Amino acid sequence: MIAVKLGGAVITHKEHERQFRTRVTRRLARELTAADGPLAIVHGAGSFGHPQAMQYQLHRGWVPGIDQREGIAVTHAVVRDLNLRVMRELRAAGIACTAVPPFPVLNEGYLHHLREVLDLGLTPVTFGDVLIDGQPSIVSGDYLMQLLASRLPVQRVIFVTNVDGIYARPYDPATLIGECTPAELERALVGDSTASDVTAGMAGKVKSIKEMVYSGAEVAVINGNKPGRLRSALCGTVTGTRVVQP
Ligand code: IPE
Repeated sequence: MIAVKLGGAVITHKEHERQFRTRVTRRLARELTAADGPLAIVHGAGSFGHPQAMQYQLHRGWVPGIDQREGIAVTHAVVRDLNLRVMRELRAAGIACTAVPPFPVLNEGYLHHLREVLDLGLTPVTFGDVLIDGQPSIVSGDYLMQLLASRLPVQRVIFVTNVDGIYARPYDPATLIGECTPAELERALVGDSTASDVTAGMAGKVKSIKEMVYSGAEVAVINGNKPGRLRSALCGTVTGTRVVQP
C-alpha cells in the first residue's frame, strides 16, 4: 500500500485563513489516480486548523483563561470543512474514498476503521485534527502517517509538500537532498517552516520520516506545486528527496 500525505501548505493558502487551493487539489486528485494499488490518504490542516489551534492553544492541553471548549468546536469544524472539500475533489477524480477522522480519540478503533475501509477496497482519507483524550491536543497528519506506516502494510510513503524536498540548509533549494538514509537525514540541518504551525513544521516531519523508514517503508518528499511529480512518484520515479533503508 502507498500512503500519501497532502500537506496543508499545498491544499490551502497557509497565510490566508480558510482559503482552499481548489485547482491544485483537483490536479493532485487526478494525479493520485495513477496509483495502481491500494492507497491511504492523509491531509494536513494548513490555514483550516493551525491558526485556530494556535489561537486557542489546543496543542498545550488545558490552558487556564482560554475558552478552549469553543476552540475545540471551531477547530474541529474547520478541519471537517477542509476534509469535505478534499473529498469532493478526490471523488470527482474517480477515487472511491471515505473519511476516517482521528477525532475524538486516537485508539485501536481508529485503526480498525482504517482497516475496514481498506478491506472494502475503498481509499481511507484521514487528517490532522484536534483530539480530546482527557485534554485537548493536536494530532498532525505527519504523526498519522507514522502510525499508518507502523500499523498497516505500507511499503511506500509520499509527502506532498510546497518545497522540492528536504533541504540540508533551511530554505536553500541548492542544498536539496536527493537520496539519503535516516542517519544521513538526522545529520542534515533542517529548519522549521512558517509561523502558525502547531505541529513543528519540517522538523516534526523529519522525525516522522525517520520512524517510518525504521518501520520498513520507503519515503519520498516531493513538491505538489509542480505538476506531474505526484503522478511520477506514485509510479516509482521520485523527483525530490528519497529516504531509504541503510
Ligand atoms: C495539523 O495537521 C492539524 C491541526 C492543526 C488541527 P498537520 O500538521 O498535518 O497540518 P499541515 O500539513 O502542517 O498543514
